[in-house]
Amino acid sequence: MAIRNIREQGEEILGKVCKEVAELTERNVILINDMLETMYEADGVGLAAPQVGILKRIVVIDVGDEHGPYIMINPRIVESSGEQTGNEGCLSVPGKTGIVTRPDYVKAVYLDEKFEPAEVEGTGLLARAICHELDHLDGHLYVEKVEGPLMDVAPLDDDYEEE
Ligand code: NI
Repeated sequence: MAIRNIREQGEEILGKVCKEVAELTERNVILINDMLETMYEADGVGLAAPQVGILKRIVVIDVGDEHGPYIMINPRIVESSGEQTGNEGCLSVPGKTGIVTRPDYVKAVYLDEKFEPAEVEGTGLLARAICHELDHLDGHLYVEKVEGPLMDVAPLDDDYEEE
């Protein structure tokens, strides 16, 4: 496994739409393992492939619950409801945080690390993480959705921050 370089806001690749993954090649397995290692090394709770410069629909999420880490290939949100408003951050926007409103519940379907169909239902932080990471796959950063100013980071324990 290897730590990969995290791309930052302003780099063109973060604005691109990622491609579906057609098969679980050895290259993709290595990418997933590297994404996990890179996320943990950066103390993050989520990371999307374009953040390490790869335009594939893969995200990893670990919000510290008993079911994680979630390795999500070709993920899709199929249900969402409710609303939560809170702080968000991103490893690609270091040192910053902002207030974003997201659904409070989402259900997502995806292929897991064995390329088998899986689904997850998330509330609270997990729902926020799924929304945030899936946005990356379509070239969107949370800063586009921020309510009010982007602030210098002063994290609280229950904030969602990739970093
Ligand atoms: Ni992010």
